[in-house]
Amino acid sequence: MLNPLLDPDISIEDRDGRPCLVSRRFGDLYFAAQDGLAETELVFLSGNDLPQRMQNKPHFTVAETGFGTGLNFLALLQYWQRLEDDPDQSAPVLHYITTEIAPLDGAVIKEVLSPYQDLSELIDAMVSILPPRWPGRHRRHLFGGRVVIDFLYGDSFEMINDAVFKADAWFLDGFAPSQNPDMWQEGLFEAIASHSSPDATLASFTAAGHVRRGLDAAGFDVERHQGFGRKRHRITGRIKATPQKPADPISPNRQKVVIIGAGIAGASVAAALKPAGYDILVLGQGDEAGDGASGNIAAVQSPRLTAAESFSERLSLTGYSYARWLARLYGVDLADQAISYAWNDREVTRHQKIKTRGWPETVFLSPEQSDLKDETGFDITHPALLFPEGGAVDPKALTQALMADVATQFGTTVTGFEQSTDEDRGRRWQIKTNQGVIDADIIVLAAGSGLAALTQDWIDPILPLQVTAGRVSHLPATSLPSFDHAISFGGYMAKAKDGRIALGASFDRHIDLDAPPPIDDDLHHANIKTLPEAVAAKIDRDFTNWSGRTSFRLASRDRAPIAGQIGKGIYMIAALGARGMVTGPILGQYIASLMMNTPSPLDRGAASMVDPYRFSAKEGL
Ligand SMILES: C[S@@+](CC[C@H](N)C(=O)[O-])C[C@H]1O[C@@H](n2cnc3c(N)ncnc32)[C@H](O)[C@@H]1O
Repeated sequence: MLNPLLDPDISIEDRDGRPCLVSRRFGDLYFAAQDGLAETELVFLSGNDLPQRMQNKPHFTVAETGFGTGLNFLALLQYWQRLEDDPDQSAPVLHYITTEIAPLDGAVIKEVLSPYQDLSELIDAMVSILPPRWPGRHRRHLFGGRVVIDFLYGDSFEMINDAVFKADAWFLDGFAPSQNPDMWQEGLFEAIASHSSPDATLASFTAAGHVRRGLDAAGFDVERHQGFGRKRHRITGRIKATPQKPADPISPNRQKVVIIGAGIAGASVAAALKPAGYDILVLGQGDEAGDGASGNIAAVQSPRLTAAESFSERLSLTGYSYARWLARLYGVDLADQAISYAWNDREVTRHQKIKTRGWPETVFLSPEQSDLKDETGFDITHPALLFPEGGAVDPKALTQALMADVATQFGTTVTGFEQSTDEDRGRRWQIKTNQGVIDADIIVLAAGSGLAALTQDWIDPILPLQVTAGRVSHLPATSLPSFDHAISFGGYMAKAKDGRIALGASFDRHIDLDAPPPIDDDLHHANIKTLPEAVAAKIDRDFTNWSGRTSFRLASRDRAPIAGQIGKGIYMIAALGARGMVTGPILGQYIASLMMNTPSPLDRGAASMVDPYRFSAKEGL
């Protein structure tokens, strides 16, 4: 069973005309009734010597235990924004990692923070990015990606232990230790220390003896100070000197990154690197972004859950939370829910197991629980999961939105690479193309099916890749007038922006890439045949105005994507298969985190799933 999120169980009380948020569950206040913001500024910001420590750094990472109303985050954001707006200062890309086991509703947050008028714009911005309420990781950003937030929904110890990051500063906030011992346990202190950068600091409102001793034993020098308001003491801490050398500071401004491939993979990497100021060039073989496998007229976005907990499920859910949020952010979502039908006996069993695992209704419902029946008259008796946060997306529009403001060069076919040493800049790449040689400090291979030809003979890890063709039928809107959402059933069906319906895709293996099977009536029949019967029965099979599209996808032997570093100065994001619109954006963020040495959007397990060296490791290489 999953570790579920908790109901916050709160009451809002009036204290001298100000709303005060009380946790009945933990028998404590979320923040000081008199002036929570002043408390935050003293305890957490001054306690960590912020914002001074953020100046003139390319990245700065703050981690918090216990997000609550987000007041600590907002106070920090206000400081960061002043730095960002000051022409004489240089603000970092701010990474904020926060845990929460009982997320509050946005409406509650707005109500209790209403006295802080100066923060109102930031409160609105923060509430607009709050993730759906399910256990797991949710990446979001603000200010065009200059502020990146990882909401880790679950228990602090578990979530931090599984996460991959080094914090420069910690906000330890989590109700009084006497009321909430889980947040003040040895294991968590050790996880905090092991997730700290070599000059990390911490601050907390509590100065309980066992907290100070525990943090000291875990590796922090802890000091006690006079507390805020009625609290007697607070603490600050600094990680004890370690012999470990800090990671090389990365100066993105000097680095030229060439991304080979202008589909969802390349676009996602470009979007993730852009806020840090890299000099980015995306090379596309076609005429525009997203004209290969990312160019279908519609794609379904839903998670792939598994019968038992798995790393692949975590990857899928983390990718899904982020990709759905992006689709809405850019206004390129096409449908508001997604239904996944169990299309054979094995799938029926899988669904049954998934339903016993304790997922909340934010993840899925049984279709009977929704109003979908009235809307569509679809086959809701067929075993299915309805994903209320799911839907469909315009793949090309998402790809192009991610690549906005990034330099591109189209009509460019890469034929090979070479490395040379530049006196000034060290090792550099020369990328040979049909349009001449292009220099780069870093290469990202994101060329989808085109990679299979490019990489096999010289790349370090073993990469068992396979190209398949996917042929999609395009139905005129009139062939299924009531259809307005997104379903998957092995294949998928979703309505495009122009009203046509995409139905597909075939999975054609061992094909001649120059002469894939045609788009014809046989294909349309075959695509219809994969649908649940009650849905198939509603389709008007006059194929006169049907058309279709063929694209090529790259998949790995174990069907999981490949994302990571594959040599010095070279990264790869590939084999997204048929699920690029779910996993592509988060894997783009992941590649950027590896390159910049910044917090990973994936936990350790999900990262191991996509490791390019996993095939070599299996063969003992
Ligand atoms: C004192 S409040 C945080 C106040 C918050 N920083 C703010 O600005 O509103 C503590 C938070 O920790 C959360 N929490 C309690 N136990 C937790 C646990 N084991 N793991 C993660 N979060 C937890 C609570 O739900 C609550 O939101």
